[in-house]
Amino acid sequence: MTVATSLEQLRARIDMLAASGRRRIIGLTGAPGCGKSTLAEHLFAHAPERSVIVPMDGYHLANVELARLARAGRKGAEDTFDSAGYVALLRRLRAAPADEIVYAPEFRREIEEPIAGAIPVFPATPLVITEGNYLLLDRGHWTAVRALLDEVWYIDVNPEVRMRRLVARHVRFGRAEAQARAWVASTDEPNAVLIAATQVRADLIVRLEPD
Ligand SMILES: Nc1ncnc2c1ncn2[C@@H]1O[C@H](COP(=O)(O)OP(=O)(O)OP(=O)(O)O)[C@@H](O)[C@H]1O
Ligand SMILES: [Mg+2]
Repeated sequence: MTVATSLEQLRARIDMLAASGRRRIIGLTGAPGCGKSTLAEHLFAHAPERSVIVPMDGYHLANVELARLARAGRKGAEDTFDSAGYVALLRRLRAAPADEIVYAPEFRREIEEPIAGAIPVFPATPLVITEGNYLLLDRGHWTAVRALLDEVWYIDVNPEVRMRRLVARHVRFGRAEAQARAWVASTDEPNAVLIAATQVRADLIVRLEPD
């Protein structure tokens, strides 16, 4: 298994993929709080004219639907996303006509809701960076995701560091510290175990030095 340990290596790989002459879709995955969204932003900043970020998080079910399904208490679990919708979007991104914008939804953490049609993917953009927890999950509609991605990178971070960052982020978005810890232990961590088991299907393991 190939391991990357520096952003320089990843940037070089991005340059190679973006110059391949056809659209490439790469996926970043890993446990909650491992740094998927942050790394996606770094890579996008390296190639802003050539790439776009399409987050799996855009396919979070709306809170009203989670309430109807009685799943609001485990938001972030594999069955709290419209996985079939995400797969359909990836297919469209592969087959998009040369003169058509494909719109992707984004997830707004401030309101914890997805917003449809927020991200335009222009036909000339060669590199799509998608990121999320369940890209390599071999269950339900998620199973179809792997074949629609050119490469999947798994971000491997020390669990203690990851959990500390996760709690800090929950606090930053309005949870009390104790509540944040309880949410991480009861919801994020069971998902982390499931996601860790998918690492074997990745093309590349990303293990960056902490800053
Ligand atoms: N290399 C880093 N050094 C320090 N902090 C980081 C680093 N990468 C990410 N973080 C912080 O850790 C937290 C989690 O990172 P991020 O949101 O990118 O993870 P994620 O994998 O997208 O999480 P989720 O699965 O919940 O979407 C954020 O608050 C982010 O600012
Ligand atoms: Mg994220």
